[in-house]
This record gives sequence, structure tokens and C-alpha cells, in this order.
Amino acid sequence: MFSHLPEPVLDPILSLSVAYRNDPRVDKVDLGIGVYRNSEGQTPIMAAVEKAQEIVTQTQKTKAYVGLAGCEEFNASIARVVLGDTPVYDRMSVIQTPGASGGLRMLGDLLHVAQPTTTVWLSNPSYVNHQPVMEAAGLQVRHYRYFSPETKQVDVAAMLEDISQAKQGDVVLLHGCCHNPTGADIDLDTWKLVTELANKNGFVPFIDLAYQGFGDGLEQDAYGLRYMAENVEEMLLTTSCSKNFGLYRERTGAAMVIGKNARDAANAKGKLLTLARSTYTMPPDHGAALVKTILTNSELDSLWRRELSEMQQRLKDLRSGLCNELRNIQLSDKFDFILQHKGMFTVLGFTAQQMLQLREEFGIYGVGDGRINIAGLSETQLPYVAKAIAAVGE
Ligand code: LMR
Repeated sequence: MFSHLPEPVLDPILSLSVAYRNDPRVDKVDLGIGVYRNSEGQTPIMAAVEKAQEIVTQTQKTKAYVGLAGCEEFNASIARVVLGDTPVYDRMSVIQTPGASGGLRMLGDLLHVAQPTTTVWLSNPSYVNHQPVMEAAGLQVRHYRYFSPETKQVDVAAMLEDISQAKQGDVVLLHGCCHNPTGADIDLDTWKLVTELANKNGFVPFIDLAYQGFGDGLEQDAYGLRYMAENVEEMLLTTSCSKNFGLYRERTGAAMVIGKNARDAANAKGKLLTLARSTYTMPPDHGAALVKTILTNSELDSLWRRELSEMQQRLKDLRSGLCNELRNIQLSDKFDFILQHKGMFTVLGFTAQQMLQLREEFGIYGVGDGRINIAGLSETQLPYVAKAIAAVGE
């Protein structure tokens, strides 16, 4: 049965974590997988989450099944975090999913059921898991140009030119904020132009929102997608609580469908539920119970918002700290683009060979595509990491 299976291809991000763990060097630095770390190098449990955990432990009286859609109070609350006051609630539906990856897969499966020949357009580059998930759902994948290696910013003209080839029935996947891996985001004007193209050419936007709150702030990071949601007939969206609630291992996320009308949204939800039933039946409850507890308790909600904005501010400080170190070493603004990038990641513009050199010579682990996780840095490591980047980037 299994003898013909090929050797496994390692996941480029998850395999890095294993290699890092096995590296005996004491001054090694993990800038690989996208997790937030504090100045002590820990990924802490947020105080709001700890308090919610106490409440859940004290009040939860059963571990009986919840339902195929997960916790409906979680679904309603997380939709509010993402969409705010956008007037789409009467034509949308939400299900809880195992992380945003689970949401991506469920929505990919829904697209395949709705139209097996669907082509999904991904940015080049995009999150390493986008293409495998969409292909596993049986969809075709094409790419649109996104990142300019010269400016280290979004090449908006090239992006729009490629997206304008997406036609009726195609799907265009956009990162809601904090683009993974580049850190280069589109501005509100570009969101408006893509919205215009969606309406003119008939493609469906699909938003992956995994880092809300880490860019310019919880509300600001959603302005673009909210504008789009209000102004298109149909849209798909998946969101994650891994990063902004620090619930990585609890696998907590949601998938949302905005339809032309309430009936379409309800039918899409019905189909999503049968897909969930034949995949995992229902999502794990614990993370969603914590998020619901936080979002429905004004004290915990304010605490969570405060903690998240402190994390966001620390990321900004780390970015400018790294830039300053690099400026002082290089006596140039060559790496100033790091300051303009948003969220956890930055693409340095290094080749796979240079990333290997960073890892082998300096014990600095970034992804082979040139991505480093700014949130993996600590203040004390900045001079060391800057020196290494400058040496490799010579
Ligand atoms: C990342 O890109 O590092 C994270 O989103 C973790 C993952 O699931 O790959």
C-alpha cells in the first residue's frame, strides 16, 4: 500500500523550528515561524486569556459536543472584530474553524463544490501554505505579481495588471493586512481599485486575515477589507486567533461567506457544515470558548485590546531598532524598507543561499524565501542580528 510513496517534502517553516531546536549554539536566534515573543524570548499567554481560562474552568460544566459550526457566540463576536459596523451581517454567515488554515481549506472545499474549475489567484510570493491548501481542495492556482524586489514594496501597477486578468468565476486571494511573507501591504486606495476590478470583471475576493492588530492597529488593519466587503456582492474571508490572542496551539479561527443575499449565505453555511462533518466534524472548543469569554466581557475585552496594542508597538520598536543598527553599520538607508513593512514579517531580499549563510555562520534562522520574523527578535539581540544581516548582505 505505501511502498510507492515518495520521500516526504519538509514544510519550509515547520521544519525550521525543528532544526532550530536541535542547534546546540547558545547565541542562535529563531526568526522562522510566525510567533510573537516577548523580550525574554517567551511566547506568553496573554493576561486576558489567563483570566478567561479561569472563568471557563469555573463555569464550564460539560465537555459534550458543541455543534458543527462551533460556538455561535464566538462566531458572532469574531465577525464583529473583523468587520466592525460594515453593513453585511444580513447577508453573511460564519463558522468556527481549526485555525485560519482550517478556514482556508473549508472555503477552498466550498469553492470546489460550487464550481470545480475555480482558479484561485495568489500573490507572488504568498504564505507558503496557500498553494498546497488550494490545490489539495482541487482548485487551480495562478499567481499575480505583488512584491518589487527593487523597492521592497508592493508593485501596485503590476499587481493590478495581473489581477485584471482574473475573470468571472475566478477567486483572488488577498492578505487582509501584514502580508506574509513580505510585510508589504496595499493601501486603502489599492483596496478600492481591486474592489472596482472585482465588480467590473466578476471575480470573488478571498481575504486571509491572520495578523489583525499587528500592523497599524485592530481597526486600521481591517479598513481595506471592510471597504471591500461593503462594496462587493460576494466575498470569502478567513481569520485566525493564533497571533492576536496568542492561541496558536488551540487552533482557533473562523471562515466567513458574504453572499449576494441571506439565502446564498445560509446555503453556503449549510454546505460548509457538511464539509466540516466529513473532515473533522467540529472544531476544537477551548480556544473559541476563551475568545468568546474575552469578547463578551468588557473588562477582558479592554485588557486584550491593550495587550495587543502593546505587542504591536513593541514590533514597531523592534523594526526601528533593527533599522537604526543597520544604518549605523552600513552608513546607508539600504535596509530602511524594514521600517515601512507591517506586522511580524519582512522579506530581506536575500537568496536562499544567503539565508543558509545566516543560519550556518550566525545561527540566525529565517525562512529560505528571505523572510524573517521581527516578532522573534529580542532587544538585546538587535546588534548581533544587524551585524549578521549586514555581513551577509554585503
Ligand atoms: C507562519 O507563516 O510562520 C505561520 O503562519 C505559521 C504557519 O502556519 O505556517
